[in-house]
Formats: sequence, C-alpha cells, structure tokens
Amino acid sequence: MGKLAITGGEALRKSPFPSWPASTEEEAQALEDVLTSTKWGGQPFPGKHSVAFAKKFAELHTVKYAQCVNTGTVAIQAALKAVGIQPGDEVIVPAYTWEGTVGPVLLVNAVPVFVDIDPETYCLDAKLVEKAITPKTKVILPVHLGMRFADMDEILRVAARHNLKVVEDCAHAHGGMWMGKGAGSMGDLGAFSFQSSKLITSGEGGAVVTNNLEYMERVQSYINAGRASVTDKYHHRIIGFNYRLGEFQAAVLGPQLDRLPAQSAIREKNMRHFEIRLQGTTGIGLLKPDPRITRLAPYGYVLKYFSEKAKEIPRASFVAALQLEGIPCDGLFYEPVYKSSLFPVDPADFPALSWGREKPLDLRKMYSCPESERAAYQEAVWFPHQNFLGSSEDTDTIADAIEKVLANIEELRGFDHKAIQNQKLGRADRES
Ligand SMILES: Cc1ncc(COP(=O)(O)O)c(C=O)c1O
Repeated sequence: MGKLAITGGEALRKSPFPSWPASTEEEAQALEDVLTSTKWGGQPFPGKHSVAFAKKFAELHTVKYAQCVNTGTVAIQAALKAVGIQPGDEVIVPAYTWEGTVGPVLLVNAVPVFVDIDPETYCLDAKLVEKAITPKTKVILPVHLGMRFADMDEILRVAARHNLKVVEDCAHAHGGMWMGKGAGSMGDLGAFSFQSSKLITSGEGGAVVTNNLEYMERVQSYINAGRASVTDKYHHRIIGFNYRLGEFQAAVLGPQLDRLPAQSAIREKNMRHFEIRLQGTTGIGLLKPDPRITRLAPYGYVLKYFSEKAKEIPRASFVAALQLEGIPCDGLFYEPVYKSSLFPVDPADFPALSWGREKPLDLRKMYSCPESERAAYQEAVWFPHQNFLGSSEDTDTIADAIEKVLANIEELRGFDHKAIQNQKLGRADRES
C-alpha cells in the first residue's frame, strides 16, 4: 500500500468542491415568471428575458449588439453566415480546441484550415496564421482558451492586411477583456456558449455579439427561420432555421450575469494564490500571463505537466492520481480536432472538401501540429473553474495534492488503475 490514494493511501481531500451550475432564489423567480407568462419559447422573437439578458451581456463585452441563440456551436455558425461565408471558403481555426469550434465551419460547407497553437498560451499562434492564408481564406476564427486570449493585436493586423473577417470563439471567455475591449468585440463577431460547464449557463445556450448592425440583422434572421430581423434596416432575406433560445433558458442567465463579477473575483484571487503556491514546483509549468489581458475570464485553469521532470511518469498517471486525491481535473480535455474521434469527417458529407481537387482533402491525415499534440497528449492539465470558487484553504488542497503526487511519483511507475486507463482516452470515448 502506497501513500497516494490511487495506490491505496488516504485521499488528501474528502469533501467536494463547490458544485456547478449553481442557482439562487432569483433564478427560481425568473423561471416562475416565464411559467406564468405563457411565453415559453423564443416567440414572439426575441423573448423578454432573452432581450434583457442580451442588453447586459453586450454592455459587459463592450459591444452594441448581442443575440441569444440555442448553443455555442450555433453561435459560431450564425456568425459565419453573418460575414457572408460561402461554400468552399476557408476558415483558419486553431488545432487545439473543442470540436464545436470546427463543426460549424463544415456545416456551412466551408473548409477548416488547422493552425498550431502558441505553446505559451495554448491559443491560436498568430505568427503562423499568415502562412495558412490562401486566395480562398475568408475568416480567421481564434479561440480564447484556458484564461488566455489569442493575440488579437496580431490577428487583427493580419486580417486587415488580407481583407479577412474575424470571428472570435469566446466559449471560455465570459467577461474577459483584452486591452480594455470585451471578448468578442474586437473581431467582426464573437460567439459565446452557455453550455452547462460555462461561467454563465442555461444548460444549453449561446450568444452572438457584434458592433455591426448588418451582421446582427443577418444573425437574427438566420436563427429565426429567416424572418426579418428586429430592425430590418438592411432587408436581408435568407433561409434560416429555428435556433432560438427558449425563455426558460434565457431567464436563468440574467441572475448569473449579475453574479459573474463577484464569482470571477473569487476565482481569480484563488487562482493567483494557486500560482504562488506552485511557482518553482519541479514538473509543473504555468501558461504565460499577458498584460494585454485586462480582465480575466477564469474558466478552465490550465497548467503544464512535464513528465521529463517528473521521472518520466506519464500525464495520465499524474492526473488519475490527482483525481483519486479528490481533485477534479482532466488531461486529455481537448485533442487536436483533426485527430479526435468526434471528427469522423467524410468528404461525401462535405462537398467543398473535393471541389477543384483530384482527391478530396483528408483533414484527418494532412495535419501535424506539434504544439497542439504536445498540449493534448502530454502536457495540459485542466481544472474546472468551480474548484476555485471556494476558500483559499480549498485552493491549498489542490496545490497540496499536486505536491503530494509529485513527492510520491515513483509509486506510479508501472502502476495501472482504471482511472489511468480512462485518462488515456479522449472524453468522448471514456466510460462515464
Ligand atoms: C471552445 C469552444 N467552442 C465552442 C463550443 C460550443 O459550444 P456549445 O457546446 O454550446 O455548442 C464550446 C463548448 O462547449 C467550446 O468550449
């Protein structure tokens, strides 16, 4: 029997961290209001709760307009439609992200072009973007991942030089700011998710933000079965779909938005404490801070695990050991999308992959992004934001557990456990 919980010792932490999502009486009242109103859907468009929330959400992100939609994936799709994406256009995406960044590109019959991440931030490497541009490139789609921002200064410069549109995937960036500008406000549009793990959640949901009225009108038509937008100044008529957010979902977003600043402040304080605790710990590295991030969006906390400095014990064993110590965390949280089992892309379904080519593009085989692969398969360790919503003593237990596992890492050599096997699989392939 070892000292580590995974090898039979006592777990360092036995009580749970704060649970997520969390609600108060305010959400209950808002739901009651919808229930008795008889206006449950997103019709008449847009619903009362949805409009009230969107107005505040836009203010927080320094944009003129925000529109709720029913998922973050749809938010990206609607944003691409708003900038006039055409079948066969190319969209530059980071390789290391959730598959939902890339699916919408294929759904509009455009072609995703994967670019590697910056190892300092795990976000799209702006220095590599220009090399990936072709005459077909229409959009750059950076993702603000892991409490960092893609380098928006450089991305906007490249986009302006090549006359490209920019859609920001802000699924991790609620309330975040870059140089005083809100996430989603710097590109042509921003897309947010309110899926249940997010900093504000309606279970499922999303929002599109923009400063451009014409884009907002297109988004509104597209998600409302092609009907005229609220303002209809530009008279766009497009085939649309029902991607509206229901009012029950919109109702629970408002109170959470009000609580977000206070919750983010708690998370940020605890995360800073965590970093001070971990500074100089052999085997652990932190993502690089960027002074241009003027307001943090404390979603998933990501650190780097260096197995070469931890007696060559692989990340799967390290993460599984932490989990058994009572610390929720994950290693293979994201994969390079082109390698993911959730990306079984068949050219027969996406005709643009074949257009003008002798053989269709094989998106699963044509890329090798070393930094994304290192982050995905060796290095990244993700901690959910609710781990940092408690006291500084709660945060101490995360750092204590990391130190405990590192101090006893030899116990993991040659050791096997179901949790380790699970960590070798992508999230979609694990037993839950
Ligand atoms: C980076 C990223 N992009 C896009 C999405 C898609 O959002 P949704 O799950 O709401 O469709 C998510 C979230 O799940 C995400 O984390």
